[in-house]
Amino acid sequence: MRKRCRVKKGKKKFHLAQFLVHGPTYHSLAMWRHPRTDWPEDSWRRPELYQHIAQVCERGLFDTVFFADLNYISDSYKGSLEPALRYATQAPEHDPIPLLTMIAAVTSHIGLGATFSISYQHPFYAARLWATLDHLTGGRAAWNVVTSLNHNQAANYGQAGLEPSELRYEKAHEFIEVCQQLWNSWDEDAVVMDRQNAIFADASKVRRIEYEGRFYSSRGPLNVVRSPQNGPALLQAGTSPRGIDLAAKYADAVFAINPRVEEAAAYYSAVKDRISDFGRDPDHCAILFGVQPIIGSSEAEALEKQEEHNSLVPLEGGMAILSGHLNFDLSKLSPDDEMMSRTEPELQRSRRVYQKENGESMTLREVAQRHGESVGLPQFVGTPATVADQLEAFFDQVGGDGFMLSPIYCPGAIEEFVDLVVPELQRRGRFRTAYTGTTQRDHFRQAD
Ligand SMILES: Cc1cc2nc3c(=O)[nH]c(=O)nc-3n(C[C@H](O)[C@H](O)[C@H](O)COP(=O)(O)O)c2cc1C
Repeated sequence: MRKRCRVKKGKKKFHLAQFLVHGPTYHSLAMWRHPRTDWPEDSWRRPELYQHIAQVCERGLFDTVFFADLNYISDSYKGSLEPALRYATQAPEHDPIPLLTMIAAVTSHIGLGATFSISYQHPFYAARLWATLDHLTGGRAAWNVVTSLNHNQAANYGQAGLEPSELRYEKAHEFIEVCQQLWNSWDEDAVVMDRQNAIFADASKVRRIEYEGRFYSSRGPLNVVRSPQNGPALLQAGTSPRGIDLAAKYADAVFAINPRVEEAAAYYSAVKDRISDFGRDPDHCAILFGVQPIIGSSEAEALEKQEEHNSLVPLEGGMAILSGHLNFDLSKLSPDDEMMSRTEPELQRSRRVYQKENGESMTLREVAQRHGESVGLPQFVGTPATVADQLEAFFDQVGGDGFMLSPIYCPGAIEEFVDLVVPELQRRGRFRTAYTGTTQRDHFRQAD
């Protein structure tokens, strides 16, 4: 009988991941100019900041530091680059892949993840890149497979427009299939390194793949030997039925933004059930929900910090970043429009972030403001103990598996979480006290 999703209550342990971007803005438009962001001007484009963050998160025993990535500066709002550039709405964004290797050099356990889109490259290149990264990181690489979501990215790669979502996901299935065949084109024991008899590799253990698909073909074999995880761990963050299918079939972890606990629980069950449908063990794919923690030494201080942070977020910046993510010009709507009643196809995808706690619709102004604050991640505000309470309550109502955290200032907010909330979670038996595995996939599978 298939293993279905059981909502386990009680002392199941959390997974924690740090959500980052290789740029001045992660998920808060206030972060780069927040008074507590104590960066030298150019530090966001230098490796030391990210190396430090990763070391802090490794000290906190996180599963991974993960870099989201976009390949465009958005003109989706008012057809102009100006709002994106002025407010740094995830623009500029430098390539995170070279950074992973620099972080790998100064860490030993933490997983190292980044987004890489399937829409503008050939699978052979991706398979080679990610197998190489898996070697260089000692089995700690994680690839967030995305299909890209904005017309500017398509145009940057010379395409006339964004392809329909269903076509992009069909390509994604085939793309991963080719990559997996290429990663499997070397047996584990293919490299013999027999110096005496001058045999480097056993040719009978390395194969062509001769892949001929609808979208891609590749002859193989890969010219990279089998990597520690046999390719990277795979991440996915799609929320449509096709996105969920891609995650269910392949992903080792899923990143999700579901501010309302009821919806998070429904999403969690749906993904876990779909994983079972594909014949996989639901425990082999960790679902991590985005949260923006705001920590104070008292409730009052935490609320002040929330107020200070949120008041630094310009509404127009929120409109611009949300327009980019939706690939829709929100200046066409009134800020007072109720988002749940909009019928435009582009606006349907993110309905999960349009609702208040009580299920009522937010206005565009409210949604855009929150998007500028956190790209829709709920803010958990309080002392280390009450933030831990909120994490526990969400986790226990949803059933698992953990959280992906985004800071309001940097690197201080990350340090506070690791130094104050992680020990609290450990005291409660909700978080590991040592790494028990060595690879990224181990961390996603073993919360202990
Ligand atoms: C938490 C989260 C992180 C994401 N990170 C990226 C990213 O780094 N780059 C990107 O192009 N899309 C990113 N996406 C977008 C998704 O990969 C996906 O394209 C989008 O949700 C639309 O797919 P859907 O229609 O299946 O929901 C992210 C989405 C979520 C929820």
